Amino acid sequence: MKLLERKVVIVTGAGGGIGRDFALAMAAQGAQVVVNDLGSSVSGEGKDAGPAHKVVAEIKAQGGAAVASTDSVADWEAANRIVKTAIDAFGRIDCVVNNAGILRDRFFFNMSVEEWKAVIDVHLNGSFYVARAAAPYFKSQNSGCYVNMTSTSGLIGNFGQANYAAAKLGIIGLSKSMALDMAKYHVRSNCIAPFAWSRMIGTIPSDTSEQQARLDKIKRMETAKIAPLAVYLASDLAEGVTGQIFGVRANEIFLFSQNRPLRSVHRAEGWTPETIAEQAIPAMRAHFYALDRSQDVFSWDPI
Ligand code: NAI
Repeated sequence: MKLLERKVVIVTGAGGGIGRDFALAMAAQGAQVVVNDLGSSVSGEGKDAGPAHKVVAEIKAQGGAAVASTDSVADWEAANRIVKTAIDAFGRIDCVVNNAGILRDRFFFNMSVEEWKAVIDVHLNGSFYVARAAAPYFKSQNSGCYVNMTSTSGLIGNFGQANYAAAKLGIIGLSKSMALDMAKYHVRSNCIAPFAWSRMIGTIPSDTSEQQARLDKIKRMETAKIAPLAVYLASDLAEGVTGQIFGVRANEIFLFSQNRPLRSVHRAEGWTPETIAEQAIPAMRAHFYALDRSQDVFSWDPI
């Protein structure tokens, strides 16, 4: 039997990139897939029904079952329609993959309110809307799961992505909360931080041989390499796996740490700003984190 036989999965942003590979891989494992994609540009402008329908056609050509949805995740009513598409077409819903995303990169000091809101709307609000719309079905059937896409831009840091980093770290909190609140209904929720060569990575120059070599390495991070983990998390093989943050980069899979106290200092008589400067900070400074970016932590080439 295939791993996702009889399961109904919604993959948002499945018209291209990582989401398309999720939809294809899940359908190949027997899932009935709602291929949701607004068909917008990387910055979230415009819409096009083409990408979602094209992926549905690809799945059907391979003998799979899929239906297209071209609603935006960034709107509560539309998110409800995405879930209703699954119910109307296949009669149930077993997994929501919150994958849709856009970028509006700008240094923080220049970022406009519109750039901030657009990114928060698609990633953080969109993940909440679609997940929340599916929750009553999960609750009443006493099963279900969420796979939420996060990013090392939020987990670690990156230049020019205050909106994206905040949204992606917000998704970590959302996913953990969904895992906690829905555990009693046997619903699981996990995050994946992918590294993949997609249109989202942008245009990286390839003018010099050095740049070309770097580009070749980055291209090794194929979008299809993320799919096996998403399929696993959506399947019953992942029973008991919830509240976790995974990463995938080419052939590497990571489990990320989650925040816990690193060090504590205590003074029976309480603290003043001066004693904090004299004792608390020197005691904790050895454990401070460097002001690093994702690429400083993931400092080796993809394997
Ligand atoms: P992509 O740009 O190829 O795919 C995103 C898809 O989402 C597009 O097809 C787009 O039309 C769709 N979309 C945008 N706004 C939407 C909306 N409001 N409603 C429905 N669909 C919408 O990008 P990629 O790389 O495949 O990204 C997938 C996910 O992985 C995103 O959440 C992204 O933030 C995350 N990610 C990707 C990384 C990478 O290395 N490619 C790194 C870290 C995170």
